[in-house]
Amino acid sequence: MSGGAGRGGGAGGGGGRRRIVAGNWKMHLLSAEAARFCNELRRGLDERPARPVPLAPAAPPVAAAPLAPVEVTAFVADGAVAPVPEVVLFPSFPLLAAVARELAGSAVTVGAQDLHPADRGAHTGDVSGPQLVDAGCRWALCGHSERRRDHGESDELVGLKVAAAARHGLTPLLCVGESREQRDAGETLAVLERQLRSGLAAHPGPPVALVIAYEPVWAIGTGLTASPETAQEVHRFLRAAASGAAGDDAAAVTLLYGGSVTPGNAAGLIAQPDVDGFLVGGASLDPRQFLAIIACSG
Ligand code: PGA
Repeated sequence: MSGGAGRGGGAGGGGGRRRIVAGNWKMHLLSAEAARFCNELRRGLDERPARPVPLAPAAPPVAAAPLAPVEVTAFVADGAVAPVPEVVLFPSFPLLAAVARELAGSAVTVGAQDLHPADRGAHTGDVSGPQLVDAGCRWALCGHSERRRDHGESDELVGLKVAAAARHGLTPLLCVGESREQRDAGETLAVLERQLRSGLAAHPGPPVALVIAYEPVWAIGTGLTASPETAQEVHRFLRAAASGAAGDDAAAVTLLYGGSVTPGNAAGLIAQPDVDGFLVGGASLDPRQFLAIIACSG
């Protein structure tokens, strides 16, 4: 699997390019299920198998659909223990504090799926950056396409959320992606550039790490994963565009792919030089699937 030129690799914050596998639980799981998941995840990460085990075929990556069991794959490549990527979970708001507690002392960090741009105030139903930090969060998703769709979030609002997250020491994970119609009309790169520029308009730049997820809308929850070549083409474009927009060194931008990632397609995607990790939806609801994706992303 490719190391990718300039990839930093180390866990933790900082401005370097990182290897990250993140799970977006969306509006799934109750507290008991979340606790079970965290236990299994911790156990899976602790008990790294001593030798490689082949990947089992992937289950259909439909969010909330029952996922077929898979063999937990090895965290081993060519006989050597592979570095485990940074692992992040994005549970829904009511689960955040409990999941952060369950994962305390582990290397897994927790993030929120959204935040309000203001620090406090009369915003019924919203959650602020300081409240997320207080709940144990280290990350915030900004501009996921389901929020753009369900809540009419504009590019400008997403930019304010990115800035708010950074202001409070949360790493913003900015999501961008084109619709099927936009891709068919040849607008993909223009759409992504617009989302990126607006999303990073107020980004303070380093030392807050810049992490971006390319999530083509047509690939989310559909099983229609972008091909490794398509993902690489877009990620290469995003790396250059993000470095221009945020003033970051291009090599320091971490670019995740999201959209129907499974244990069966993760290896081909992560082998691309500009794919630094994943934002996983449906397959992150099953610890064995999630562990299998982590295993091939080290
Ligand atoms: P999916 O979702 O893996 O179920 O396609 C990805 C996402 O929306 O972050």
